[in-house]
Amino acid sequence: MISALVRILSLLLAPLLLGSAHGLRNVSRRTFEIDYNKDRFLKDGQPFRYISGSIHYFRVPRFYWKDRLLKMKMAGLNAIQTYVPWNFHEPQPGQYQFSEDHDVEYFIKLAHELGLLVILRPGPYICAEWDMGGLPAWLLEKESIVLRSSDPDYLAAVDKWLGVLLPKMRPLLYQNGGPIITVQVENEYGSYFACDFNYMRFLQKRFRYHLGNDVLLFTTDGALKNFLKCGTLQGLYATVDFGTGGNVTADFQTQRKVEPKGPLVNSEFYTGWLDHWGKPHSTVETEVLASSLYDILARGASVNLYMFIGGTNFAYWNGANTPYSPQPTSYDYDAPLSEAGDLTEKYFVLRKVIQMFEDVPEGPIPPSTPKFAYGKVALKKLKTVEAALDILCPGGPIESLYPLTFTQVKQYFGFVLYRTTLPQDCSNSSLYAPKDGVHDRAYVSVNGVPQGILERNSMIPLNITGKAGATLDLLVENMGRVNYGSYINDSKGLVSNLTLNSSILTNWTIFPLDTEDAVRSRLGAWGDQGAGCHNKDCAGSSSNYMLPAFYVGNFSIPSGIPDLPQDTFIQFSGWTKGQVWINGFNLGRYWPAQGPQMTLFVPQHILTTSAPNNITVLELEHAPCSTHGWETCTVELVDKPIINRPVTHDGVFPQ
Ligand SMILES: *[C@@H]1O[C@H](CO)[C@@H](O)[C@H](O)[C@H]1NC(C)=O
Ligand SMILES: *[C@@H]1O[C@H](CO)[C@@H](O)[C@H](O)[C@H]1NC(C)=O
Ligand SMILES: *[C@@H]1O[C@H](CO)[C@@H](O)[C@H](O)[C@H]1NC(C)=O
Ligand SMILES: *[C@@H]1O[C@H](CO)[C@@H](O)[C@H](O)[C@H]1NC(C)=O
Ligand SMILES: *[C@@H]1O[C@H](CO)[C@@H](O)[C@H](O)[C@H]1NC(C)=O
Ligand SMILES: *[C@@H]1O[C@H](CO)[C@@H](O)[C@H](O)[C@H]1NC(C)=O
Ligand SMILES: *[C@@H]1O[C@H](CO)[C@@H](O)[C@H](O)[C@H]1NC(C)=O
Ligand SMILES: *[C@@H]1O[C@H](CO)[C@@H](O)[C@H](O)[C@H]1NC(C)=O
Ligand SMILES: *[C@@H]1O[C@H](CO)[C@@H](O)[C@H](O)[C@H]1NC(C)=O
Ligand SMILES: *[C@@H]1O[C@H](CO)[C@@H](O)[C@H](O)[C@H]1NC(C)=O
Repeated sequence: MISALVRILSLLLAPLLLGSAHGLRNVSRRTFEIDYNKDRFLKDGQPFRYISGSIHYFRVPRFYWKDRLLKMKMAGLNAIQTYVPWNFHEPQPGQYQFSEDHDVEYFIKLAHELGLLVILRPGPYICAEWDMGGLPAWLLEKESIVLRSSDPDYLAAVDKWLGVLLPKMRPLLYQNGGPIITVQVENEYGSYFACDFNYMRFLQKRFRYHLGNDVLLFTTDGALKNFLKCGTLQGLYATVDFGTGGNVTADFQTQRKVEPKGPLVNSEFYTGWLDHWGKPHSTVETEVLASSLYDILARGASVNLYMFIGGTNFAYWNGANTPYSPQPTSYDYDAPLSEAGDLTEKYFVLRKVIQMFEDVPEGPIPPSTPKFAYGKVALKKLKTVEAALDILCPGGPIESLYPLTFTQVKQYFGFVLYRTTLPQDCSNSSLYAPKDGVHDRAYVSVNGVPQGILERNSMIPLNITGKAGATLDLLVENMGRVNYGSYINDSKGLVSNLTLNSSILTNWTIFPLDTEDAVRSRLGAWGDQGAGCHNKDCAGSSSNYMLPAFYVGNFSIPSGIPDLPQDTFIQFSGWTKGQVWINGFNLGRYWPAQGPQMTLFVPQHILTTSAPNNITVLELEHAPCSTHGWETCTVELVDKPIINRPVTHDGVFPQ
């Protein structure tokens, strides 16, 4: 609205300001371009540099977009940067999601309303510590596909996707009255093995076709000569990314080798760093960050702070690195705004640094949102996964001589149960997945007796015991696809044959589990009937492992306290590893047995005061409940996050 008014005003004023003497230039035209003579950007013909921050709309609930953007604006940023994850918007081929939390157009318009410019990074590959770097898992249906290359099937899918996304972005470009000043093509392509210039040229053509010739397209690569070699292309402005560790002069000199003229740009200046399960929480010291930022700004460079707010990998969206090491649910990133959007010391220090160079808006900064400790919630065990297969897999299982992957059974996230029978009596027989064949973790049982876990990184066979004809079940968990490097083609499930004492197991019954739908509807209805847990499936086990099972409970928001519901954090003392939902909203994975993350962020908009709030937990390994009293199962809603529990490098807690 405001900007429309400004445009109309400037249209009206243009002839007055310009006069007919300089009639060749139309000042009302919105332009964003590079001034190669003076090594800077020009916005509407005026010198400009951006101080931007990364926020991923897909990691922040829509409910909080405005709050976070306003806090970014108040920090003195004049732009924000976001990726667009293809897999978040096209979950099945040709099926698109652009509403509610997926409404990227609304998010960009909101930034515009608040007077923030937008730097758009639509990939199609985005890395981002996001499942498969944002590429949809269904691309792996062609097993030999070479992602991020001129592979014709890959290009056809990319072309179709860009034909959906980019026309939505075009009206939001700066020159068309919107906030998008620049658009990145691919992402750190120079760190990928393929080095396929035809692919980059293909993208450049499609971006130009959909967005026009006026938009400023750019690339980003690590500030090393080798990265820039395959990541850059004539016609795409080359920028670099680097953190606080190095030498700003040297890093920008690397950009200068490719772009001798034009603005200096650090597209990802790291305010913190990512975490992995079982590794210590990463941090970047505020003073070091502030002095590096000062150094960058003092050169007149443009910069994007990655991340300004990290947010959350809700549901199953986290990525992983290789050798396989998945990232946790929190993407706090030690950023200036915490995962929950709280103002940190880092926020205020960076704001002061920015203030030394640019005007920072005055007026109140939106405060950190209050958090509430709703307390302990008792959970009761509902049913094991095995006992709930009819509810979890209403379409019925798929039979196959050899195991099929998640992609082959068209289930891309969560869990698939693989079932076969023991061909003969087994006592201490070795169940083995060759060649790293379990992606990523299999919870193994024989006739309902837990046997242990087969893990992706481990080649250690599992000893199993049971009679011929007994049911062998492997509940396989997809813990997040690799998002960086040559092995982003990360198929899930049993990706090799399993052997029992070196003979291949065959005749599998494969159950793709629709856990989301079950938790949202069928599982709830079934709780109403008080089905509870009365049969032997529910019995605990004296071993380290219990059968994967669902636990449910509820809590009410106390009355008489103003401003409830408020945000909270859910803590899993005594629980081992699993997935949690509140009122059907998938909050993500918990794994306190690994750390460093011990609590999960619960945004208030998923809570209600009008009914009890339902918690559903799928515990995969071991719940803290005794065999006799399920009432000992509790989770706790607390008012402070713990994402930095000390962990040694081996993933073992120091005593
Ligand atoms: C000036 O630019 C505006 C916006 O692009 C356009 O509508 C208008 O026709 C232009 N005027 C002239 C005189 O070129
Ligand atoms: C940083 O790099 C520049 C250019 O390579 C070099 O001249 C300078 O000595 C370096 N500074 C430090 C502190 O290493
Ligand atoms: C597995 O079984 C073999 C005998 O087949 C035995 O030597 C080994 O100790 C067993 N391992 C475990 C962990 O029980
Ligand atoms: C499996 O092997 C272990 C270690 O050798 C032994 O303690 C255990 O009794 C064996 N179990 C069976 C069922 O044979
Ligand atoms: C598998 O090998 C172990 C150790 O050699 C043996 O004890 C067990 O009986 C074998 N099981 C089968 C099913 O052949
Ligand atoms: C994944 O892609 C890489 C690079 O193209 C290739 O070497 C590898 O064989 C692929 N892996 C699978 C399982 O297809
Ligand atoms: C399993 O083994 C069979 C027979 O050797 C082979 O045809 C098949 O490709 C294998 N499957 C996997 C997933 O490795
Ligand atoms: C697998 O199923 C086929 C067809 O039903 C049957 O002929 C074969 O004996 C089965 N194999 C095993 C190991 O049970
Ligand atoms: C929680 O579950 C109960 C029973 O299924 C249902 O009546 C209630 O509406 C649910 N609460 C919410 C907030 O969804
Ligand atoms: C909520 O939990 C209590 C036990 O804490 C239980 O008695 C009640 O049935 C549950 N309500 C719903 C709607 O599930």
